[in-house]
Amino acid sequence: MKRYEQLSSEIELLAIDKKISLDKMLTTVCELLQSNIEHFDWVGFYFHDTQRPVLHLKAFAGDPTEHTEIPFGKGICGQVALSNKHFLVEDVTKQDNYIACSLTVKSELVVPLFVDNKNIGQIDIDSHKFKAFSKKDVAFLEEINRYVSQKIKS
Ligand code: SME
Repeated sequence: MKRYEQLSSEIELLAIDKKISLDKMLTTVCELLQSNIEHFDWVGFYFHDTQRPVLHLKAFAGDPTEHTEIPFGKGICGQVALSNKHFLVEDVTKQDNYIACSLTVKSELVVPLFVDNKNIGQIDIDSHKFKAFSKKDVAFLEEINRYVSQKIKS
């Protein structure tokens, strides 16, 4: 298990490395986070469609999900597409507007991804534990998203 600081440094290198594509970076980030952080059971990136108000799953690590397209406003992800703010859910069973990917998921954290201050997507983390996420996770994922944004702009 790697520490957050080490993961962050490795991901920064992926952002800088011109030989690594955006798709490769996204897949590698999902795999690195899902396999190294114990409470990250599913990690995925959704991106906004450029024409319609829907999100598309672009990369993930963990069990496959049928929710590869999510309308804006629906579920935790769809709400973050509209609010532009992170959404930390300590207990998913208490959410009315929630899309269940698996009954094993107990808590979820979604952090928006900005490019030039525009919300263009998000990183979504599911955990099999209740109250799995902290402010440290929010700050960490904001940093990871800044590296992804840097890659998109490069
Ligand atoms: N639970 C999410 C849907 C995506 S899955 O977690 C992979 C939601 O409510 O938006």
